[in-house]
Amino acid sequence: MTALGYLQRPVLAWREITAADIAAVHALHLAATEVVGRPDLIRPESRSFFEKIVAAAGKIIGVFDETGLRAYGVLQWDLSFEEDPYGPLGLGPGDGLAKLAGTAVRPSAWGQGLHRQLIAWRIIEARRLGFRHLYATSAPGNARSWTNLMDEGFRVRAVKEQYGGHLRYLLARPVDKQADADTNGDWCEVADIGRQRDLIASGREGAAWRAGKDGHAILYVPRP
Ligand SMILES: CC(C)(COP(=O)(O)OP(=O)(O)OC[C@H]1O[C@@H](n2cnc3c(N)ncnc32)[C@H](O)[C@@H]1OP(=O)(O)O)[C@@H](O)C(=O)NCCC(=O)NCCS
Repeated sequence: MTALGYLQRPVLAWREITAADIAAVHALHLAATEVVGRPDLIRPESRSFFEKIVAAAGKIIGVFDETGLRAYGVLQWDLSFEEDPYGPLGLGPGDGLAKLAGTAVRPSAWGQGLHRQLIAWRIIEARRLGFRHLYATSAPGNARSWTNLMDEGFRVRAVKEQYGGHLRYLLARPVDKQADADTNGDWCEVADIGRQRDLIASGREGAAWRAGKDGHAILYVPRP
């Protein structure tokens, strides 16, 4: 990068979101969701959800630039108001499970890798706080979201209908790194929900992805 390039790079400040920032977090959530234009792909959050997180249920990391909040990511550990997070993962309340519970990047800053950085920050923070497992939900149709989670070590463990009947991958990873996946598995079209459900029901999981010819994501399911 040239010296001018460095000068043009925005200075980003990372800090925890406080109650005073909630309006900005909610506004960014609404703005990013509107640009995606598919309400079925992103769970709509109320302002009170973010207030509850900051008060005690978790924490939110924010990335700020000279114009304000550029991105945020939610780490939630009070899972009492979530739809059964434990059953499909074979875990219980004593197993140290926390959730990556939503994220948004200002649309003008999309494509700069901030989402992966927000995921990585929350994995490190969860480890520091003593959690042992993390999970997240993501719509199969929101490939930008789940491919970044998979690139940060999350695996597809279930395909569920959630949040009022919308399809969601349930993705999870241990906080510590897990063993590499087998390389002789199956590639599965994301649109083929039935096949993915069958493979997962036989004890397998989605461990990686690749872009198909037209750029759409295809899920890799290794052999157990
Ligand atoms: C999903 C999201 C967090 C990804 O954030 P991000 O930091 O931009 O992620 P990336 O940098 O990996 O970019 C993802 C892809 O967005 C696309 N993209 C980049 N710039 C874009 C733009 N200006 N317009 C449209 N798409 C763009 C690209 O396909 C990019 O991948 P590529 O650079 O490898 O081609 C962000 O798109 C977002 O805020 N979406 C709305 C909220 C949401 O879906 N949250 C997740 C579920 S809660």
